[in-house]
Amino acid sequence: MHKRSNNETPFYLDSALSPEQRAADLLPRMSLEEKVGQMMQLSRGRKDAAEVDEWVQRGVGSFLQTPLQEIIRLQKLAENSRLGIPILFAEDAIHGHCLYPGATIFPTQLGLSSAWNPELFERMARITALEMTATGMFWTFSPVLCMGRDWRWGRVDETCGEDGLLIADMAAAAVRGYQGDDLSAPGSVLACAKHFAGYAMSAGGRDAYETPLSRRALKSEFLPPFRRAAEAGCASFMAGYQANDGVPASADRWLLRETLCEEWGFDGITVTDWDNVGSLVHRQQVCADLRQAVKTALEAGNHMLMETPGFYEEAIALVRDGEVAEVLVDDACRRILLAKFRLGLFDAKRYPPDGALERVGCAAHQAVALEAARESVVLLENKNGTLPLGADMRRIAVVGPGADDVETLLGDWSFGSQQADNGMVTHPRENIVTVCDALKGRAGTEVAYARGCHAFDKSDRDIEAAVEAARGADVVVACVGDHVKNHGEASDRADLDLPGAQQELLEALHAVGTPLVVVLVASKPHTVPWVQEHADAVLTAFNPGMKGGQAIAEALFGDLNPQGKLTLSFPRHVGQQPVNYQQFSGWHAWFSEWNGYYDMPPSPLWPFGHGLSYTEYTYENLKLTETRLTSNDVLAVTVDVTNCGGRDGVEIVQLYINDRVSSVTTPVKQLRAYARVALAAGERRTVQLEVAVRDLALVLPDLSEAVEPGWFDVMVGPSSRNEDLLKTEFEVIAG
Ligand code: BGC
Repeated sequence: MHKRSNNETPFYLDSALSPEQRAADLLPRMSLEEKVGQMMQLSRGRKDAAEVDEWVQRGVGSFLQTPLQEIIRLQKLAENSRLGIPILFAEDAIHGHCLYPGATIFPTQLGLSSAWNPELFERMARITALEMTATGMFWTFSPVLCMGRDWRWGRVDETCGEDGLLIADMAAAAVRGYQGDDLSAPGSVLACAKHFAGYAMSAGGRDAYETPLSRRALKSEFLPPFRRAAEAGCASFMAGYQANDGVPASADRWLLRETLCEEWGFDGITVTDWDNVGSLVHRQQVCADLRQAVKTALEAGNHMLMETPGFYEEAIALVRDGEVAEVLVDDACRRILLAKFRLGLFDAKRYPPDGALERVGCAAHQAVALEAARESVVLLENKNGTLPLGADMRRIAVVGPGADDVETLLGDWSFGSQQADNGMVTHPRENIVTVCDALKGRAGTEVAYARGCHAFDKSDRDIEAAVEAARGADVVVACVGDHVKNHGEASDRADLDLPGAQQELLEALHAVGTPLVVVLVASKPHTVPWVQEHADAVLTAFNPGMKGGQAIAEALFGDLNPQGKLTLSFPRHVGQQPVNYQQFSGWHAWFSEWNGYYDMPPSPLWPFGHGLSYTEYTYENLKLTETRLTSNDVLAVTVDVTNCGGRDGVEIVQLYINDRVSSVTTPVKQLRAYARVALAAGERRTVQLEVAVRDLALVLPDLSEAVEPGWFDVMVGPSSRNEDLLKTEFEVIAG
């Protein structure tokens, strides 16, 4: 094209034109080197300034992990380069803009998912986007849509649990929040659905290892949340580190090009995870050298390459030698330019607006972090109404490594990245409320604090001090779990018992005889049958974020009526996994007392969907509007839910479906709808839930999809546990 408007300004700089027109004008002006440069994403943290500046002159597309002042310097350098293409700065802002000191830090995705509240997730994403743009960043590597089955994996906290419907709803909400209605608006950033796809299913919980997932398994279980993200307009997708059934995600043409781009019509950017292309050579060994890996990656449908510097020379050489068609580079570059035009980066949005930093961590944002923490609290056990604590509980022993530990409260990706070498971020202590802070701040409450032991170092302990605190107290609040040092990327575990000396600590506290309330502050489910049996009450909020201590204290004293429900199942023992609720029938267990393992019941300690309240709910009158439906119909279900206790509350009503006979095996139940219902004490409501019958489609062995006629069970209740569910049935007929 190479046209210029009348005043000699290149068309691509004319903000009155559409992003498509501008990209079409800019692309032909670029050399092959500049186009490949746009495909490069490099870590700023790992390079010296001279090297970074050279990359800017080459037209680098994106940096991650870059401090604000450096962003402004590099953006100026880019603006004054030959074509003036802005740089897209990216960050792992996955539960708030957490790697920026002083930002608002929400519960981790796992914590927040317990609220079953997509609208809240959307608000978290919106606030995160606002804070990111204030610091010159326009691309978050979030939401994490991984769905796992093995909690030994180090990154369980980053997920929304074990259910595809919940993950899909959170995906759509996150995209709405990050990207808003208009990407060019001041507070919008690109979302990134990751890790595409199957990453959390690595065998044995081994990070970035192989998964056994076939294309059918991917398509029926693991791709639907990603598809929802794509339908919501998610601007980018990140390929996982792992190989599925022998094919590394970044080499998977079926996944990236055929499914995502062609079948789903995705016109955004795919980005590799960190050096995925190098890994095709040195880890997965499916390519003999980097040149072959780069060719494979280009053909598979990768557009941006995270931290693979050697990609630059190899891609240029491959095109020059005629081994790779230049249209592949053009397509990738066009998508990257489009994203930059859509974001408005060529226009007013290139630099953060004056005064924008004031909104980072502002009081209004922190208030939403508190709301999120409150909705994340899950009451797991409450024997004899131990909770809420009464006014007579004046002296509280607050013990355990999670009681006053900022890192455990804020969770992973709040201090630094395993990948980046740029030092630890610190957050202002006064913004953070630990359980200990919150309880000490309560009028009329006397707190004796003793940590007792460390959460991972077994030798670091002073159990006697904790026991001493417990002796003089009316109640013990023991905050146990894990620590950021024993989970996270590349930090898997072989067992799921409470690490360090925490079990000994709990047993010593229990022996004192003071009522024992256990608060699990952790990145994942631990195997705590002893806690279930011996504690008087148990709460969790996973890693609840900057205001987590306040929310937990409010729940302990009943200022807050817990409403969260688990989005994953707690195993009794590590060997019982996978213990997710979507079990299959057909386990030969004839001689087992338990109808499961010989030495253990098959059921989880606490199942998916479980969560108690300080009030009681009853479910009655489960009804279907129609019981014979075609695949074009919508199943409409009603159930009467009554709050028959003495407190107002919010109940999360769950609907599961079982396909009785199908040509491929299906789980015994699958969540198909849910509703959050606010009920005042004594109130009864008829709750209506709907399921489109076409959503019950199966993926068949040839990868086609069909709703098969036949009978289905409908189960509605407060958790996934059979005993908790009312049951009825309907038939799908052909037509
Ligand atoms: C992680 C990604 C992350 C990227 C950039 C990788 O190691 O797997 O989730 O977005 O690093 O920090």
